[in-house]
Amino acid sequence: MPYIKDLLQSLFIMASMVEARDPYTGGHLWRVSQFSGLLAKKAGLPSDEVARISVGGFLHDLGKIAIPDHILNKTGSLTDLEYEMMKTHPEVGSRLLSGHPLAELVRSAVLSHHETPIGTGYPHALRGNDLPTDARVISICDAFDAMTSTRPYRQAMPITQALNIIQHEKGASLLRRDSQ
Ligand SMILES: [Fe+2]
Repeated sequence: MPYIKDLLQSLFIMASMVEARDPYTGGHLWRVSQFSGLLAKKAGLPSDEVARISVGGFLHDLGKIAIPDHILNKTGSLTDLEYEMMKTHPEVGSRLLSGHPLAELVRSAVLSHHETPIGTGYPHALRGNDLPTDARVISICDAFDAMTSTRPYRQAMPITQALNIIQHEKGASLLRRDSQ
């Protein structure tokens, strides 16, 4: 594809608009991208998949661009209604990608990063082998970065504690309202 670097750059710009609206998560997308690439490589995936997953890690929360500021930047717990609105971001992100020439590279990362192996995730309650590999990798790294980052309303968790939680829960209940 002749302009693939430009097309990739346009995806990164779209994703960075999300981060610009959420000052408390500075660097989150970049870290999730880096962690996801490292984890994918460690899992033995081929280099083209590692690259694709790294890009997906940067794009995963694209749909948050449509979440109102008072929900996106809320420091307390979300109400049930706010949580339902927040849960629309994977499908919104997937729709935003429509028409982009590289959409299919990152669609499953954007659409499925809040699914879990036991079917408790959203938007489609996928389970087991129905979960795309990139979404699995990115959801682990998303949860890890959320737990180990300081937010205005809580301190960062030690890395070893976060890794223990991920190991113990094996993705079953990594859906935390403060790590959407
Ligand atoms: Fe998300």
